[in-house]
Amino acid sequence: MRDASLVVVASRLPINDAAASEGVFEWRRTPGGLGEALHPVLINKPATWIGWAGTPGPTPPLIDVDGVHLVPVELSEEDFQDHYEGFANSTLWPLYHDAVEPAVHHRRWWEAYQRVNQRYADRAAEVAAPGAVVWVQDYHLQLVPAMLRELRPDLRIGFFLHVPFPPPELFMQLPRRAEILFGMLGADLIGFQRSHAVHNFHLLVTKVLCATADEHGISLGGRTVRTGAFPISIDTAEMEALASRDEVVRKAAELRADLGDPQRVILSVDRLDYTKGIEHRLKAYRELLADGRVKAPETVLVQVGIPGRERVEQFRQLRDRVEREVGRINGDFGRLGVAAVHYLSQVFDRTELAALYRAADVMAVTPLRDGMNLVAKEYVAARVDGCGALVLSEFAGAAAELTQAYLVNPHDVEGVKDTLIEALQADPAEPSPQLAAMRAHIREHDIQAWARSYLTALEAACAGR
Ligand code: G6P
Repeated sequence: MRDASLVVVASRLPINDAAASEGVFEWRRTPGGLGEALHPVLINKPATWIGWAGTPGPTPPLIDVDGVHLVPVELSEEDFQDHYEGFANSTLWPLYHDAVEPAVHHRRWWEAYQRVNQRYADRAAEVAAPGAVVWVQDYHLQLVPAMLRELRPDLRIGFFLHVPFPPPELFMQLPRRAEILFGMLGADLIGFQRSHAVHNFHLLVTKVLCATADEHGISLGGRTVRTGAFPISIDTAEMEALASRDEVVRKAAELRADLGDPQRVILSVDRLDYTKGIEHRLKAYRELLADGRVKAPETVLVQVGIPGRERVEQFRQLRDRVEREVGRINGDFGRLGVAAVHYLSQVFDRTELAALYRAADVMAVTPLRDGMNLVAKEYVAARVDGCGALVLSEFAGAAAELTQAYLVNPHDVEGVKDTLIEALQADPAEPSPQLAAMRAHIREHDIQAWARSYLTALEAACAGR
């Protein structure tokens, strides 16, 4: 079965959770998810994707989706709890996001992390053709590069971390820090979203593993591993085309009418995650309403909260707190038939999302920490009319590129309030030079450019081996 020349290894297969059990196969395109990000790069390519089908237990037979061959890795209920919910999403996720919630450590979870990573590496070793490119994705699978190199030294192995890589003070808390660094160093090229992260990684391998790090990469045990920042992006042309459709423009007008034809619509689209700063933003909005600086229904906030990781305690609690706060705001500031915050905890399809972007005068993306945040880039791309204002957290990777946004420190409630007001005061029907500059940037730096630059760098990293 060793015939795949481009293999992506990711925690999940790019199909919807229920897909395998219901026999329906659709590419998983939830906003900000990894499947969504890689879709345009892989569709109709002779690529193989190794991952988990989204439900514990045996996987029914899979068929190719959008031309990509799917190879399942099975997770038992125990693997799911200890690897996905445990080590990946209760230890690494909070720690890599500035420990905005405390990281939880259990030795059992580490055992599961190793066991499950080994399973993905074994699968990749089985299917990859001689000399194939194997591209390992994200924090769930940081041990796979070294495990795979051990099994198949002929492969060209890339690793890309979609989330932030934390500063040494935080990473050093991990009981198995050296093993994780060694795991990543099995790759020929380690890609991060930002140069910050590259810097943190270099400091750590020097300190923990006594490796040598310079601008060419990292030297350890006679090998050189390249590193670099490759900020991920979106399929800009696809979003532009979608947002230009008559049906989307009509839908956007209908949405505004459904909201009571407000003068201003603020939109936020986040996974229900404590890293996204939803509570801080709602607090700022409540205060603006209380101070009379905004009034419903002239101004409304639409908060889309995409459900996810609901069995993980910290995520469940966040959802409860958000929903309580939305209820409180509407209780205090709404009227019969008039809501101050329209909260929707649903998954939207691409067309509805594009219509929401086009209906929003102000897009508020204010995570406390975020690897990139592709929703911010999607909003910019969707505004083919050149209008709209983006309020963006300084702590989102996207802020390094979308420098013309209304940048804000999400922890500074007064700053968030003032910035929202400033963005609301801009004329929503007037195309802005800021938006034009951001659009020009993401047109040039789209997802295809990202994949090209990463894969070319991987090629170069392997050339001298
Ligand atoms: C983040 C991660 C991705 C993941 C996404 C959805 O963006 O970096 O790897 O696809 O969250 O998370 P989930 O836990 O639902 O797969």
